[in-house]
Amino acid sequence: MALLPILCYPNPKLHTVAKPVQAVDARIRTLIADMLETMKEAKGIGLAATQVDVHERLIVIDVSEQHEDPLVLINPKLIWASPDTHVNEEGCLSVPGIYDGVLRHDAVKVEAQDGSGALRLIEADGLLAVCIQHEMDHLMGKVFVEYLSPLKRNRIKTKMIKAQREANA
Ligand code: NI
Repeated sequence: MALLPILCYPNPKLHTVAKPVQAVDARIRTLIADMLETMKEAKGIGLAATQVDVHERLIVIDVSEQHEDPLVLINPKLIWASPDTHVNEEGCLSVPGIYDGVLRHDAVKVEAQDGSGALRLIEADGLLAVCIQHEMDHLMGKVFVEYLSPLKRNRIKTKMIKAQREANA
């Protein structure tokens, strides 16, 4: 297993639209293991392949308190979203240190393949529902800060560029 570098906003690669995973083979199983390790190390609850510069429809999630209950979603497809919505405070491993409110559906149903390639139906609410919507956005090339006002987004962009410059200095 290996830790993978996470792309940081505003890296334009984060806006790549991911392609379907063609086969759940050894390469994908290695990617899943590496993404789970990377997410755990970064203390995240979700990571999309897009964030590690692999543009295929694959997500790992773990919203459990002990980080012991990983969920793998391959080629996820939104089947249903509740009409009820609410604003949740969100963060993202690609936008470190930034948290802000995003309007999400309270509950979703998603069809996806698991780590063995089997098709599953996931019915999610609460934090898991929010996380699934956030990560599925990544696969479409969308980062949560794009829901914020242009003013806020530009401030975040400036802050991120400055932080990355300082980190590389
Ligand atoms: Ni994210």
